Amino acid sequence: MTVPEHLSYEEAATLPCVAVTAWNALTGDGACLGTGHTVVVQGSGGVSLFALQFAKALGARVIATTSRPAKAARLRALGADEVVDYSATPDWAAEVRTLTGGRGADRIVDVAGLLHESIRAIALAGTIACVGFVGNASLPLDTGALFASGATVRTVAVGSRAQFTAMNAFIGTHGLRPVIDRVFPFDEAVDAYRHYAAGGPFGKVVVSHSHAPSGVGIPA
Ligand SMILES: NC(=O)c1ccc[n+]([C@@H]2O[C@H](COP(=O)([O-])OP(=O)(O)OC[C@H]3O[C@@H](n4cnc5c(N)ncnc54)[C@H](OP(=O)(O)O)[C@@H]3O)[C@@H](O)[C@H]2O)c1
Repeated sequence: MTVPEHLSYEEAATLPCVAVTAWNALTGDGACLGTGHTVVVQGSGGVSLFALQFAKALGARVIATTSRPAKAARLRALGADEVVDYSATPDWAAEVRTLTGGRGADRIVDVAGLLHESIRAIALAGTIACVGFVGNASLPLDTGALFASGATVRTVAVGSRAQFTAMNAFIGTHGLRPVIDRVFPFDEAVDAYRHYAAGGPFGKVVVSHSHAPSGVGIPA
Protein backbone atom coordinates (compact mmCIF):
# COMPACT_ATOMS: atom_id res chain seq x y z
CA MET A 1 0.00 0.00 0.00
CA THR A 2 1.67 3.24 -1.08
CA VAL A 3 1.03 6.84 -0.09
CA PRO A 4 0.10 9.19 -2.98
CA GLU A 5 3.46 10.67 -3.94
CA HIS A 6 2.52 14.31 -3.52
CA LEU A 7 1.33 13.89 0.08
CA SER A 8 3.21 14.24 3.35
CA TYR A 9 2.86 11.59 6.06
CA GLU A 10 0.63 13.96 8.02
CA GLU A 11 -1.66 14.30 4.99
CA ALA A 12 -1.59 10.56 4.34
CA ALA A 13 -2.55 9.88 7.97
CA THR A 14 -5.96 11.44 7.26
CA LEU A 15 -6.82 8.89 4.57
CA PRO A 16 -7.52 5.48 6.19
CA CYS A 17 -10.81 6.33 7.92
CA VAL A 18 -12.81 9.40 6.88
CA ALA A 19 -11.39 9.68 3.36
CA VAL A 20 -12.14 6.13 2.30
CA THR A 21 -15.53 6.41 4.01
CA ALA A 22 -16.32 9.43 1.84
CA TRP A 23 -15.01 7.59 -1.22
CA ASN A 24 -17.21 4.58 -0.42
CA ALA A 25 -20.23 6.84 0.13
CA LEU A 26 -19.80 8.31 -3.35
CA THR A 27 -18.59 5.36 -5.38
CA GLY A 28 -19.15 2.16 -3.38
CA ASP A 29 -22.43 1.29 -5.08
CA GLY A 30 -20.81 1.32 -8.51
CA ALA A 31 -22.97 4.16 -9.82
CA CYS A 32 -21.27 6.58 -12.20
CA LEU A 33 -21.57 9.76 -10.17
CA GLY A 34 -20.36 12.82 -12.03
CA THR A 35 -21.33 15.63 -14.36
CA GLY A 36 -25.02 16.48 -14.15
CA HIS A 37 -25.38 15.06 -10.64
CA THR A 38 -25.82 17.00 -7.41
CA VAL A 39 -24.24 15.83 -4.15
CA VAL A 40 -25.11 17.13 -0.69
CA VAL A 41 -22.45 17.03 2.02
CA GLN A 42 -23.54 17.83 5.56
CA GLY A 43 -21.37 20.08 7.74
CA SER A 44 -17.65 20.63 7.50
CA GLY A 45 -16.32 17.55 9.28
CA GLY A 46 -13.66 15.21 7.98
CA VAL A 47 -15.90 12.89 5.96
CA SER A 48 -17.78 15.81 4.41
CA LEU A 49 -14.67 17.73 3.31
CA PHE A 50 -13.31 14.64 1.56
CA ALA A 51 -16.73 13.96 0.02
CA LEU A 52 -16.80 17.55 -1.25
CA GLN A 53 -13.35 17.25 -2.83
CA PHE A 54 -14.05 13.83 -4.38
CA ALA A 55 -17.49 14.84 -5.70
CA LYS A 56 -16.08 17.97 -7.34
CA ALA A 57 -13.20 16.01 -8.89
CA LEU A 58 -15.77 13.52 -10.23
CA GLY A 59 -17.53 16.45 -11.92
CA ALA A 60 -20.61 16.72 -9.71
CA ARG A 61 -22.26 19.84 -8.38
CA VAL A 62 -21.93 20.08 -4.60
CA ILE A 63 -24.27 21.65 -2.07
CA ALA A 64 -22.59 21.86 1.34
CA THR A 65 -24.24 22.70 4.64
CA THR A 66 -22.65 24.29 7.68
CA SER A 67 -23.75 25.92 10.93
CA ARG A 68 -20.90 28.40 10.84
CA PRO A 69 -20.94 31.37 8.44
CA ALA A 70 -17.15 31.66 8.72
CA LYS A 71 -16.81 28.19 7.22
CA ALA A 72 -19.08 28.94 4.27
CA ALA A 73 -16.37 30.83 2.39
CA ARG A 74 -13.89 28.03 3.04
CA LEU A 75 -16.35 25.45 1.73
CA ARG A 76 -16.81 27.54 -1.42
CA ALA A 77 -13.03 27.88 -1.78
CA LEU A 78 -12.80 24.10 -1.61
CA GLY A 79 -15.26 23.85 -4.50
CA ALA A 80 -18.77 23.89 -3.02
CA ASP A 81 -21.17 25.35 -5.58
CA GLU A 82 -23.75 26.26 -2.95
CA VAL A 83 -23.59 26.51 0.84
CA VAL A 84 -26.65 26.29 3.08
CA ASP A 85 -26.38 27.51 6.68
CA TYR A 86 -28.41 24.88 8.54
CA SER A 87 -28.59 27.07 11.66
CA ALA A 88 -30.10 30.03 9.83
CA THR A 89 -32.04 27.70 7.52
CA PRO A 90 -33.05 24.66 9.61
CA ASP A 91 -35.13 23.32 6.72
CA TRP A 92 -32.00 22.71 4.65
CA ALA A 93 -33.81 19.92 2.81
CA ALA A 94 -36.31 22.41 1.35
CA GLU A 95 -33.40 24.67 0.40
CA VAL A 96 -31.73 21.79 -1.44
CA ARG A 97 -34.96 21.28 -3.40
CA THR A 98 -35.05 24.98 -4.26
CA LEU A 99 -31.39 24.95 -5.34
CA THR A 100 -32.04 21.95 -7.59
CA GLY A 101 -35.16 23.37 -9.22
CA GLY A 102 -37.38 21.05 -7.18
CA ARG A 103 -35.57 17.90 -8.33
CA GLY A 104 -33.57 17.15 -5.19
CA ALA A 105 -30.01 15.88 -4.82
CA ASP A 106 -28.83 12.72 -6.53
CA ARG A 107 -26.69 11.73 -3.59
CA ILE A 108 -26.61 12.79 0.04
CA VAL A 109 -23.67 11.88 2.24
CA ASP A 110 -25.58 11.75 5.51
CA VAL A 111 -23.01 12.12 8.29
CA ALA A 112 -25.51 13.69 10.65
CA GLY A 113 -28.04 10.88 10.99
CA LEU A 114 -30.74 13.05 9.43
CA LEU A 115 -32.40 10.39 7.34
CA HIS A 116 -35.86 11.85 7.91
CA GLU A 117 -34.63 15.14 6.36
CA SER A 118 -32.40 13.60 3.72
CA ILE A 119 -35.44 11.76 2.34
CA ARG A 120 -37.05 15.15 1.77
CA ALA A 121 -33.97 16.41 -0.09
CA ILE A 122 -33.22 13.37 -2.26
CA ALA A 123 -34.09 13.18 -5.96
CA LEU A 124 -36.27 10.37 -7.28
CA ALA A 125 -34.10 7.24 -7.35
CA GLY A 126 -31.23 9.07 -5.66
CA THR A 127 -28.99 7.50 -3.04
CA ILE A 128 -28.60 8.43 0.60
CA ALA A 129 -25.33 7.16 2.03
CA CYS A 130 -25.81 6.69 5.78
CA VAL A 131 -22.44 7.41 7.34
CA GLY A 132 -22.82 8.84 10.83
CA PHE A 133 -24.79 10.60 13.51
CA VAL A 134 -23.09 13.89 14.42
CA GLY A 135 -26.49 15.63 14.37
CA ASN A 136 -27.65 13.78 17.52
CA ALA A 137 -31.17 13.64 16.08
CA SER A 138 -33.43 10.66 16.56
CA LEU A 139 -36.60 11.57 14.73
CA PRO A 140 -38.62 8.54 13.65
CA LEU A 141 -38.25 7.44 10.06
CA ASP A 142 -41.28 8.19 7.88
CA THR A 143 -41.44 4.93 5.96
CA GLY A 144 -44.15 6.31 3.69
CA ALA A 145 -41.92 9.22 2.69
CA LEU A 146 -39.03 6.81 2.17
CA PHE A 147 -41.14 4.63 -0.14
CA ALA A 148 -42.42 7.66 -2.07
CA SER A 149 -38.90 9.02 -2.56
CA GLY A 150 -37.83 5.98 -4.57
CA ALA A 151 -34.45 6.46 -2.96
CA THR A 152 -31.85 3.89 -2.13
CA VAL A 153 -30.58 4.09 1.43
CA ARG A 154 -27.14 2.57 1.72
CA THR A 155 -25.18 2.19 4.93
CA VAL A 156 -21.46 2.77 4.69
CA ALA A 157 -18.81 1.13 6.86
CA VAL A 158 -15.45 2.76 6.13
CA GLY A 159 -14.19 0.98 2.99
CA SER A 160 -12.35 -2.04 1.63
CA ARG A 161 -8.67 -2.32 0.79
CA ALA A 162 -9.62 -2.22 -2.90
CA GLN A 163 -11.58 1.00 -2.35
CA PHE A 164 -8.66 2.48 -0.44
CA THR A 165 -6.27 1.67 -3.28
CA ALA A 166 -8.64 3.11 -5.89
CA MET A 167 -9.15 6.25 -3.82
CA ASN A 168 -5.41 6.81 -3.44
CA ALA A 169 -4.97 6.47 -7.19
CA PHE A 170 -7.77 9.01 -7.71
CA ILE A 171 -6.16 11.39 -5.22
CA GLY A 172 -2.87 11.04 -7.07
CA THR A 173 -4.43 11.59 -10.50
CA HIS A 174 -6.29 14.69 -9.38
CA GLY A 175 -3.56 16.04 -7.11
CA LEU A 176 -6.01 16.32 -4.23
CA ARG A 177 -4.71 17.37 -0.81
CA PRO A 178 -6.50 16.56 2.45
CA VAL A 179 -7.65 19.60 4.39
CA ILE A 180 -5.66 19.78 7.60
CA ASP A 181 -6.72 22.23 10.27
CA ARG A 182 -3.66 21.85 12.47
CA VAL A 183 -0.79 19.50 13.19
CA PHE A 184 0.21 18.96 16.82
CA PRO A 185 3.50 17.40 17.93
CA PHE A 186 3.09 14.08 19.71
CA ASP A 187 3.81 15.50 23.17
CA GLU A 188 0.86 17.90 22.69
CA ALA A 189 -1.60 15.15 21.73
CA VAL A 190 -3.96 16.05 24.58
CA ASP A 191 -4.16 19.62 23.26
CA ALA A 192 -4.99 18.17 19.84
CA TYR A 193 -7.99 16.33 21.29
CA ARG A 194 -9.08 19.49 23.13
CA HIS A 195 -8.77 21.50 19.93
CA TYR A 196 -10.92 18.98 18.05
CA ALA A 197 -13.47 18.75 20.87
CA ALA A 198 -13.91 22.54 20.88
CA GLY A 199 -15.72 22.04 17.56
CA GLY A 200 -14.14 24.78 15.48
CA PRO A 201 -11.63 22.96 13.25
CA PHE A 202 -11.96 23.08 9.49
CA GLY A 203 -10.19 19.93 8.40
CA LYS A 204 -8.38 17.16 10.16
CA VAL A 205 -6.47 17.58 13.40
CA VAL A 206 -3.27 15.56 13.14
CA VAL A 207 -0.92 14.32 15.84
CA SER A 208 2.50 13.95 14.26
CA HIS A 209 5.22 11.59 15.38
CA SER A 210 7.67 13.34 13.10
CA HIS A 211 7.36 16.38 15.38
CA ALA A 212 8.26 14.28 18.45
CA PRO A 213 10.84 16.08 20.59
CA SER A 214 12.96 12.93 20.75
CA GLY A 215 13.52 13.30 17.04
CA VAL A 216 12.45 9.70 16.57
CA GLY A 217 9.62 9.70 14.11
CA ILE A 218 8.49 9.14 10.59
CA PRO A 219 10.62 11.04 8.07
CA ALA A 220 8.73 13.76 6.19
N1 LIG B 1 -19.66 4.78 8.69
C1 LIG B 1 -18.35 4.89 8.81
O1 LIG B 1 -17.59 4.02 8.39
C2 LIG B 1 -17.78 6.13 9.41
C3 LIG B 1 -16.43 6.47 9.23
C4 LIG B 1 -15.97 7.68 9.75
C5 LIG B 1 -16.85 8.48 10.48
N2 LIG B 1 -18.13 8.08 10.68
C6 LIG B 1 -19.10 8.90 11.39
O2 LIG B 1 -19.45 9.94 10.50
C7 LIG B 1 -19.76 11.11 11.25
C8 LIG B 1 -18.89 12.24 10.74
O3 LIG B 1 -17.53 11.96 11.04
P1 LIG B 1 -16.44 13.13 10.91
O4 LIG B 1 -15.15 12.57 11.37
O5 LIG B 1 -16.55 13.75 9.58
O6 LIG B 1 -17.03 14.10 12.05
P2 LIG B 1 -16.49 15.49 12.53
O7 LIG B 1 -15.27 15.87 11.77
O8 LIG B 1 -16.39 15.45 14.01
O9 LIG B 1 -17.72 16.44 12.10
C9 LIG B 1 -18.04 17.53 12.86
C10 LIG B 1 -18.91 18.42 12.03
O10 LIG B 1 -20.19 17.84 11.84
C11 LIG B 1 -21.08 18.88 11.47
N3 LIG B 1 -22.39 18.69 12.06
C12 LIG B 1 -22.72 18.58 13.38
N4 LIG B 1 -24.06 18.52 13.53
C13 LIG B 1 -24.59 18.63 12.27
C14 LIG B 1 -25.92 18.67 11.75
N5 LIG B 1 -27.00 18.59 12.55
N6 LIG B 1 -26.07 18.79 10.42
C15 LIG B 1 -25.01 18.86 9.59
N7 LIG B 1 -23.73 18.84 10.03
C16 LIG B 1 -23.53 18.73 11.35
C17 LIG B 1 -20.46 20.20 11.97
O11 LIG B 1 -20.16 21.01 10.81
P3 LIG B 1 -20.25 22.62 10.86
O12 LIG B 1 -19.31 23.04 11.96
O13 LIG B 1 -19.82 23.03 9.51
O14 LIG B 1 -21.69 22.94 11.15
C18 LIG B 1 -19.20 19.74 12.69
O15 LIG B 1 -18.12 20.64 12.53
C19 LIG B 1 -19.55 10.76 12.73
O16 LIG B 1 -20.78 10.36 13.27
C20 LIG B 1 -18.60 9.56 12.65
O17 LIG B 1 -18.72 8.73 13.78
C21 LIG B 1 -18.61 6.93 10.15
